[in-house]
Amino acid sequence: MNKIYITTAIPYVNGNPHIGHAMDYCLADCYARYQRAKGNEIRFQVGTDEHGNKIAQKAKDLSISVDKYVEENSNKFKDFITKLNISYTDFIRTTDLEHEKRAQEIWRRLSDHIYKAKYEGWYCTGCERYITKKEYDENNGVCPDHQKPYEKLEEENYYLRISDFKDRIRDAILTNEMEILPDFRKKEILKLLEESPDVSISRPISQLSWGVPVPDDSSQVMYVWLDALSNYITVLGFPDTLDFKEWWPADAQFVGKDILRFHAIIWPAMLIGLGLPLPKTLVSHGMVLCDGQKMSKSIGNVIDPIEVLGKYGLDAFRYYFLRHVDTFADSDFTWEKYDDAYNNELANDLGNLVQRLATLAEKNHILLDERDKAGLSDEYCGLMDKFEFSKAFDYVWDKIQNLNKRIDEEKPWSLAKNGEIEKLERCMKSLINSLVDAVYELMPFLPNASEKIIDVFSGEIHPPKTPLFPKER
Ligand code: MSP
Repeated sequence: MNKIYITTAIPYVNGNPHIGHAMDYCLADCYARYQRAKGNEIRFQVGTDEHGNKIAQKAKDLSISVDKYVEENSNKFKDFITKLNISYTDFIRTTDLEHEKRAQEIWRRLSDHIYKAKYEGWYCTGCERYITKKEYDENNGVCPDHQKPYEKLEEENYYLRISDFKDRIRDAILTNEMEILPDFRKKEILKLLEESPDVSISRPISQLSWGVPVPDDSSQVMYVWLDALSNYITVLGFPDTLDFKEWWPADAQFVGKDILRFHAIIWPAMLIGLGLPLPKTLVSHGMVLCDGQKMSKSIGNVIDPIEVLGKYGLDAFRYYFLRHVDTFADSDFTWEKYDDAYNNELANDLGNLVQRLATLAEKNHILLDERDKAGLSDEYCGLMDKFEFSKAFDYVWDKIQNLNKRIDEEKPWSLAKNGEIEKLERCMKSLINSLVDAVYELMPFLPNASEKIIDVFSGEIHPPKTPLFPKER
């Protein structure tokens, strides 16, 4: 049994969860469940990123205290994660006192690589990111993601000397010591790494008061990304707990492609500076788009995940985001596609299959023989081990569709009608056992529906009292 540590990006709490946030959770949960099924022990972090100006500003706009605002919104994320049936083990908030103390300790331990200097340049509060002159010029001074002009900054900041770590990071990427997935993102990151200047890691308190104070300098507050990235180890109790030594390095860190640069450059720099091993894999997923466009409040195309969950329930939600949203590429969400996936695939392919087999088994008193579980197939494990979740899901779905074909070809109802009892038993047992084997592979994707299906075919077989995926809800 191995110990596997899985992490997700911690969202900013300046708004409600949206469907894009579900990607980190669903992918990481799928991996966690798969690893548990293989007998491994899992530590699985989720949490919320609660500092920074954009959050403080939002609370101010709403005339509520920032503590209250972040608490309310953090709870919304927790509630959302629970609704998605995410099997996490740890929930961290960057405003937890323990986290703040440990983040300060991280700063102290990095001090050999930190220096103070004047920053003159640009910043995007939406991205919470310093903008280079090149980017400023390329985007004509306006952030393409937030449609807001970059802010001009002239301030004294602390810097992390990225140049101390470049060779080591490049090496780790090239040798896959820290694997970046998908592979095609590696080149982008290697290029960014070469261009990366030392990064500013603090803001003057006059410009940013909602953050973790820099140790021994009350005039400065930590840059939100330094604080946020630390969560992956502070949640394990870095530096002083046994837990930390048992679980670090992470096996898989799930992030969206938009924030890979922080995880593939600043984060490894911090870890190397701390003398710690690097994460084994950074899995960067694509974006969920709406009608071909990035979701944004200003365009007004943000989809409320609670509405999506409300339409057909959790299985449909996980089905869509894990199968029809490609793991690595950007993919569109539309209500038409969603309705279609639910009605034609979940309800028709899987729901009807279960209903038909269970009804026939009940009617003909078919009882399954005791047998060992077939185990997960090599092809399936090969895809899951490479984090190719949507492909692994397709692979399992092919099995479901083949079973539908087999039923139509083997026509067990005719065997029953003709009194060919032995043949009927053989045919039904083979079909049901194949279905049950496929459902074990489906479990990481659709835990709720899979449990129900396993239940239907355990012991005396009866069809589900209500259809698994009713057409009308
Ligand atoms: N707070 C930072 C992360 C710090 S991790 C140390 C942040 N927050 S975020 O709320 O903007 O994004 C959280 C996660 O949601 C990121 O992995 C991001 O890529 C993901 N997504 C946000 N919008 C998304 C889509 N439209 N589609 C898919 N994922 C998206 O970045």
